[in-house]
Amino acid sequence: MLTRRKFLTMSSGLLAGAMLSACISMENEKPEPKDVVIPAAEVPQAGEAPLQKQSERFFVIHNDDGLLAFSARCTHQSCNVGWEAGRDEFHCPCHGSIFNRHGERTAGPAPRPLDLLALAVGPDGGLVVTTGTATERDEWRPGQSVPLT
Ligand code: FES
Repeated sequence: MLTRRKFLTMSSGLLAGAMLSACISMENEKPEPKDVVIPAAEVPQAGEAPLQKQSERFFVIHNDDGLLAFSARCTHQSCNVGWEAGRDEFHCPCHGSIFNRHGERTAGPAPRPLDLLALAVGPDGGLVVTTGTATERDEWRPGQSVPLT
């Protein structure tokens, strides 16, 4: 016979198992790659402030050596970094990491530069940025920048 005590014990065990399963599932869930088209008219000029796509959580920045697309997620604990126009750098509001125009960490606890997203330049000067495939890197290297030809 199923006593009230046994029933409650079994129920709480099942509930804990279901919650654990849901957490593991969410942990392993990666966003699907998605191509985001940026028309040529929206591509920033070299040295200008980056284009921010808040809905997709990334930035496109145009430096003298080419274009980079970064994830906006700080590499410390995934807070969204923001652009500080007066300082020409990205700041994380959570623990103070700072990143330069190439996404390199210049201050704070972040362990590496901002993660890169694949970026391609179309024949009309527009861009395609592929989200959901952020690449970790140890440092910035010139070959990471994509020239706008
Ligand atoms: Fe950005 Fe901690 S999450 S510094």
